[in-house]
Amino acid sequence: MVDRIMPEPFRIKMVEPVTVPDRSQREKALEAGYFNMFGLRSADIYIDLLTDSGTGAMSKYQWAALMKGDEAYAGADSFYALKEAVKEVLGFDYVIPCHQGRATENVLFGTMAKAGDKIPFNMPFDTTRGHIFNVGAEPVDCVIDEAYQPELQHPFKGNVDPKKLEEAILTYGKDRIPLIMVTVTNNSGGGQPVSLENLREVSSIARKYGIPLFLDAARMAENAYFIKMREEACKGMTLAEILKAMMDCADGITCSAKKDPLVNIGGMLCCRTEEMYHRLLPRVILFEGFATYGGLAGRDLEALAVGLREMVDEQYMAHRVAQVKYLGDLLDEGGVPFVKPAGGHAIFIDAKAFLPHIPQKMYPADVLSIEIYREGAIRGIGLGALAFATEDENTGELILPKLELYRLAINRRTYTNCHMEYVAQSIIDVFRRRDSIRYGLVVDYAPPVKGLHHFLARLRPVQL
Ligand SMILES: Cc1ncc(COP(=O)(O)O)c(C=O)c1O
Repeated sequence: MVDRIMPEPFRIKMVEPVTVPDRSQREKALEAGYFNMFGLRSADIYIDLLTDSGTGAMSKYQWAALMKGDEAYAGADSFYALKEAVKEVLGFDYVIPCHQGRATENVLFGTMAKAGDKIPFNMPFDTTRGHIFNVGAEPVDCVIDEAYQPELQHPFKGNVDPKKLEEAILTYGKDRIPLIMVTVTNNSGGGQPVSLENLREVSSIARKYGIPLFLDAARMAENAYFIKMREEACKGMTLAEILKAMMDCADGITCSAKKDPLVNIGGMLCCRTEEMYHRLLPRVILFEGFATYGGLAGRDLEALAVGLREMVDEQYMAHRVAQVKYLGDLLDEGGVPFVKPAGGHAIFIDAKAFLPHIPQKMYPADVLSIEIYREGAIRGIGLGALAFATEDENTGELILPKLELYRLAINRRTYTNCHMEYVAQSIIDVFRRRDSIRYGLVVDYAPPVKGLHHFLARLRPVQL
């Protein structure tokens, strides 16, 4: 059932016109982009839900803060504005700006991990996996089993299974585990949250074995909001208090600031000790820039400092999560199968259940991307076999991922609830004609780099 709509807690000050390309334009755009959603031009899209990353609208306070940007190479005031906001909102003493989330991953794994290491996770995001592979290490998924059952309702499907975590530590030995990481919320598993109780348990296991715990904190405020809504012991706490309590569990975080911190570009790596800070800095200087700007302009650091404080505004976050749920409720009414409950930033449609007649090795999630674009000029993204399949090291056999999902990521403060109704209607129309979708995809080209196929793949439809 669709709940009462929660109206937008903002009004629109500037508009960005968008047009709806006609059907023949959409066909041309698909061909020109090799049937890969990353190959489309934004001008060929009406509603762009490819990602919630860097695509949100900044507030008037963030735009005003841009003017304060101090562009000094070292020791800029803007760095200290960010440092202060990080201390206030997250409690960390050390912050390293980086140009975006994957840059923080490069610095963290490039510094801390080496070939043969294992990194236990709930589940890593795809760039995170890519960076772990890049240093010859491997992630170990320790998420609870419920995460693999799309239709199952569970309040914290992003939780780590403590038994799986301890088993991984005992199997590989703590010397091969340079750090443990938890993604909040768990993007690859449907934008599902991790409970505070679970984070505390993981933290105590990490401490027991003397292994540092890091959070991938891209969507830390959404995670905190779900804790507030769903974890009995936290009901009386403010969003800001819950977020701090989450951070208290960790030795450090990587963060794509393009998500919850509400900026168009940016990332940050935070930690507690001077020793860890100095260990991480050389790679920052090699790849990002000096310690006090890390690849960002001073004005970006200012906007980020404001965004960090805005993300814990309870009215803003209540609307954000309600808008995603609203889209989910509309799809549910139309019978469309998706990961339940609705995630914090996105709806993840279960492509295996939507298109059961297309074999997973022919990429049903990416067929769905094409059909939904055809129907409504809407861009989402397939996150299934094309993104996550791996090969068995010994036999070369294809190992398909358990989940085959199609993601509609909702940009922050960007689209209205009416846009959500249009998206839902278009997808329900595709769902009604799903039996007539009789093709799969083959890959004509993909880069020979593990974990990056889906970004650059050239695809070709073939009849079933
Ligand atoms: C959970 C998570 N971690 C890391 C990243 C990488 O961040 P960026 O795109 O800023 O490099 C993303 C991006 O979508 C993400 O969702």
